[in-house]
Amino acid sequence: GQCAVVIVAAGSGQRLGHGVPKARVPLGGEPMLVHAVRGVLKAGMAGQICIAIPAGDAEIEGICAQLAGEAAAAGVNAFSVVEGGADRSASVRAALAVMGDAVTTVLIHDAARPLAPAGVFDRVTAALRDGAKAVIPALAVVDTIKTVIPAELPATGAGVEKVSGTPARHQLRAVQTPQGFDLAILRRAHEYALTLDEVTAAAITDDAMLVEAIGEDVYVVQGSTHSLKITSPTDLLLAEAMLQGPLR
Ligand code: CTP
Ligand code: MG
Repeated sequence: GQCAVVIVAAGSGQRLGHGVPKARVPLGGEPMLVHAVRGVLKAGMAGQICIAIPAGDAEIEGICAQLAGEAAAAGVNAFSVVEGGADRSASVRAALAVMGDAVTTVLIHDAARPLAPAGVFDRVTAALRDGAKAVIPALAVVDTIKTVIPAELPATGAGVEKVSGTPARHQLRAVQTPQGFDLAILRRAHEYALTLDEVTAAAITDDAMLVEAIGEDVYVVQGSTHSLKITSPTDLLLAEAMLQGPLR
């Protein structure tokens, strides 16, 4: 079967604060979405590509039209663009709804991770080929991570947080995209997502969480520091530096 790659690019980029959807924000002179799609083409496993974009954004539509040409030239069979949803999860579902019949596996990738190297795509795809039905790239974390709960300072009652726990760092991983799935299982996971209440649904931050929730094993492969998610202005600076070469 074919492997489809979904790129979710329908977010508004509030935290980056450029006043335009993040997928359009330039990195090394090209929109982030262009880097993300070229990264997929370079990796070379995509039979189909589907991009979820913000509703009514003619500029992104234009960028996608150009990318469709590049994808065709690279041998990709189908290239589609769908209107994203209210949250990331809904954008993924919009893309899953248009997958062609030939598709058996799907990689879900953030446009906000424009520099994800081909090696990561290769590792995810290889694990799927080796029988995993869900695969995520991840890195060991360098910071100690705490869980916190709301609290009040003893003397003043000022609202703060206090530590409720410290998970052992060696067991923690920072998770990236592309995340790879058996298409049928990811569809089942997203059907399950639709049954969740609003609060629970809002806490869903990646596709693998949903797959875990329906009881499937999620396997982990090595991610990359180049797969950083561009969220804040400092992330963009770091990505610009990576593109220049010295940090590569
Ligand atoms: N995304 C999406 N549809 C949404 C929300 C997010 O397709 N409704 C995508 C984003 O375009 C991005 C990825 O999901 O590629 C990760 O989201 P995030 O980094 O949070 O991007 P934004 O939502 O655009 O940024 P912010 O949260 O700062 O507004
Ligand atoms: Mg967001």
